[in-house]
Amino acid sequence: ETVDWNPEDAGKSGYEHYTLKEIHEQPRAVRQCLRGRPQPFEGSISIEELEDVPRPTEVQFAACGTSYHASLYAARLFRERGVRATAFLASEYDAAAVPIDEGTLVVGVTQSGETADTLRALRTANAVGARTLAVTNVVGSSAARETDRAMYVRAGPEIGVAATKTFTSQQVALAMLSSALTDDRSGEFVAALRALPDRIQSILDDSRAREIAAEYVGSDAYFFVGRGLAHPVALEGALKTKELTYEHAEGFAAGELKHGPLALVTPETPVIALVSGRANTERMLGTITEVRARGAPVVAVTDDPESVERRVDRVLRVPETHRRFFPILANVQLQLLAYWVANGLGRSIDKPRNLAKSVTVE
Ligand code: G6P
Repeated sequence: ETVDWNPEDAGKSGYEHYTLKEIHEQPRAVRQCLRGRPQPFEGSISIEELEDVPRPTEVQFAACGTSYHASLYAARLFRERGVRATAFLASEYDAAAVPIDEGTLVVGVTQSGETADTLRALRTANAVGARTLAVTNVVGSSAARETDRAMYVRAGPEIGVAATKTFTSQQVALAMLSSALTDDRSGEFVAALRALPDRIQSILDDSRAREIAAEYVGSDAYFFVGRGLAHPVALEGALKTKELTYEHAEGFAAGELKHGPLALVTPETPVIALVSGRANTERMLGTITEVRARGAPVVAVTDDPESVERRVDRVLRVPETHRRFFPILANVQLQLLAYWVANGLGRSIDKPRNLAKSVTVE
């Protein structure tokens, strides 16, 4: 008797796709990202690679795709800590047009470290004398070599074209970066950070994303809405859905729905709403009422199920965490939702049509 042996499948450890395997590897990826960095006694973060980097007066992020969404999240965290910070699409970044001074730190966020648009942005920043930092998953990558410093996200290799575990690890790394460079000291933050792998594991163990995906597969479009720190993750949920399912998906700031996108909302367009009990339940319930009045089914991804249960069609639960980490946990549910919709449609999940893992042309 012979056994069919496909070396491609050997690395999947029983998962149907690398993408699903990598979603499930996130607790480990985050543990690796954290290793040695949170200092529980001091309540601080120490990043060995960046030991003598001074507090910047301004941070400019440049990144593409999923890494841009991680940058939007990071820029908000820096602003909350009192540092001016902006996330730019790397293809739109023009160091000559953005004022830069000695206090400016330009951060290229790039999983592969080889994305041409991001490298170009970093080179133009170097050329005008900015201090530069790469936040990357690949040691020795072009981004790491061409910047003053590199911080590694340590997610391990990612085979699936659509970024999953590297995004989660980028968010964790950037949350630590914002804390380390602004001398943040918070025992609560550090404790919540160290609990993240277990929180992610509990989502993976209990998620109802598969059955909810089965209910909504075949919809006309999927809309993702969030506010504040969760807005970037609404954009990421939509991008993951586009990449994996080839269906129409858009992410919006919840408050912007009424300024246009509401015209697209119908009973055939599920709205996935990110509702954070610590940040915005009341205001998100306003948005939910608006879309339900147009007949759209609503799936709430929330750490506050008691407040929303009766106001939505389905709930994907996220465990309690620090306010800053709600988006990281909510995103795991969005990954699973996108994956299971794509699986239901029989898509080429690990290698979506027309897409490349690393885009090395401008
Ligand atoms: C490609 C990939 C995306 C990724 C983007 C940026 O478009 O398909 O998943 O987010 O590049 O990649 P980087 O390696 O710079 O993070």
